Amino acid sequence: MRYDKNAFEMLGGIEGARNLANSFYETMSNLPEAKKIRDMHPPDLVPICEKFALFLCGWLGGPALYKEKYGPMDLTGLHALLNIGEAERDMWLSCMEKALETQMIEEDLKKYLLERFRIPAEKIYNWCQQKQSLQPFKSINHL
Ligand code: HEM
Repeated sequence: MRYDKNAFEMLGGIEGARNLANSFYETMSNLPEAKKIRDMHPPDLVPICEKFALFLCGWLGGPALYKEKYGPMDLTGLHALLNIGEAERDMWLSCMEKALETQMIEEDLKKYLLERFRIPAEKIYNWCQQKQSLQPFKSINHL
């Protein structure tokens, strides 16, 4: 991979981020095996798709558009109320892998991006597991 541009620029700037976000949610909506994670989302994916595109810009080294519009992003907090196990994490990554395959970008960039996505996906998954293992204590508190 060339290093004179950052990942945001190599993806194609905001247009590239929007293309990837659109393709990702389209893949999630069309894949029967992704129904479980699709159903975790609201019926109208347009607002989330745009938020995801804005998030990608800052996360990949471009302008912090999500932060400017919505404030700081707390990825684990944002997903904290969801039940994300291994299957959901892997399906999310599988949709992302398929979405990346449809992008007109360098192969090395696709591999790099998938590896980068694994990091927050794992963090979110671990957070959800921790939360579940703490649930018995929560109910004791309510006694
Ligand atoms: C691990 C599997 C994941 C699942 C099952 C999942 C699921 C979801 C769901 C259901 C929502 C919508 C929440 C709502 O109703 O508002 C959402 C929003 C979002 N997710 Fe994930 N997600 C996952 C991983 C990730 C990862 C790895 C990233 C970033 C790299 C990410 C970034 C976002 C963003 C930016 C939003 C929109 C934020 C907003 O509403 O302000 N998600 N996700």
